Amino acid sequence: MQQTKTILDVEQIRKDFPILNRKIHNKPLVYFDNAATSQKPSVVIDAIKNYYEQSNANVHRSIHQLGEEATEAYEKSREKIAGFINADSSQNIIFTKNSTEALNLLAYSLTSSLKKGDEIVISQLEHHSNFVPWQQLAKQKGLNLKFIEINKNIELDKESIKKNITKKTKIVSVGHISNAIGTINPIEQITKIAHENGALMVIDGSQAAPHMPLDMEKINSDFYVFTGHKMLGPTGVGVLYGKKELLENMQPFLYGGEMINEVKFEGTTFNQLPWKFEAGTPNIAEAIGLGIAIDYLQKVGMGGIHEHDKELTEYAMEKLSKVRDVAIYGPKERGPIISFNVKGVHAHDVSQILDSEGVAIRAGHHCCMPLMGVIGVAATARASFYLYNTEEEVDVFIKAIDKVKKVFGV
Ligand code: ALA
Repeated sequence: MQQTKTILDVEQIRKDFPILNRKIHNKPLVYFDNAATSQKPSVVIDAIKNYYEQSNANVHRSIHQLGEEATEAYEKSREKIAGFINADSSQNIIFTKNSTEALNLLAYSLTSSLKKGDEIVISQLEHHSNFVPWQQLAKQKGLNLKFIEINKNIELDKESIKKNITKKTKIVSVGHISNAIGTINPIEQITKIAHENGALMVIDGSQAAPHMPLDMEKINSDFYVFTGHKMLGPTGVGVLYGKKELLENMQPFLYGGEMINEVKFEGTTFNQLPWKFEAGTPNIAEAIGLGIAIDYLQKVGMGGIHEHDKELTEYAMEKLSKVRDVAIYGPKERGPIISFNVKGVHAHDVSQILDSEGVAIRAGHHCCMPLMGVIGVAATARASFYLYNTEEEVDVFIKAIDKVKKVFGV
């Protein structure tokens, strides 16, 4: 497939991803399901294999060569992540299983700072992972869970932000980019409003960290979470960034080995940051793999990736908006995600016909059932892009949509 010239050398980049050579139903794979998970470059796959073949050992325990190598690689990865998001130090970086676990950690570990009647503010746009943990916490502690509403453009309504965040608010938790729609939320403004009201600010950056440069100092949120597998890393590793003084005062999430300082029959003291939040043998290979993914992203350049993804999304938006009987949801300016429906065709059928043309998208409620209710649809089809996608692939996708319309007589 011939590649369009873009800000990135996509032709070269594609060679680094072995799976992109696959055929699906005898057609070249067009992978537009990057919001669900990204593909992995050879360097990441090789790093995991190499770790198991050459350095496999437990971390922070074993006084032998392999133990030291494993610990060094694991901790180096933490430092790379701190650098990637401009965190103060690697002490601000907690390895988790994924964003969901990081958000559950927060909902659990912040419990003791909350009392009946306190308010937590999230938004109607949230993924279930940034919704259900707070809903459960509210139920258990008698808190009020409030929702910033969306406007008809499926953006967070400015008035609703101001109305919902008040002196009673203790925690505000919103996504940086909506996984279902692609809406980019004004996180710095919301953080400012949260802080003016004395609330803690949590940001779910799962769909932002893979696509744009991040600067924790500038964003100034108290916590920021993201997951490795959407940014070229392996599954099973996520990140919780938190401000040090806050993490220091929080209860651990899981108890057990490694997260302790001293254990006596009478009681236990906890380890220092970040290990206080990493009980048990951690996801060593995955964390190392994520560090290599970050090296790769930085070598390509996050600025370039951001530009590329933006240009490609604009191209796809322009093409798709010209197809009759297709409804696109959300604002024109968006992250690299397009949510749509073909009139009279269920999103699952759209996805299946696209698959027969080699095009992989996601269809369904995108783990955002409350949002789907607000928009008034049961499901949408969703195409999501990344650094290895091309305009030619968008053209294949558009042709496949025409096939959907033909098959269903739209
Ligand atoms: N959160 C992922 C998605 O949006 C799985 O598809």
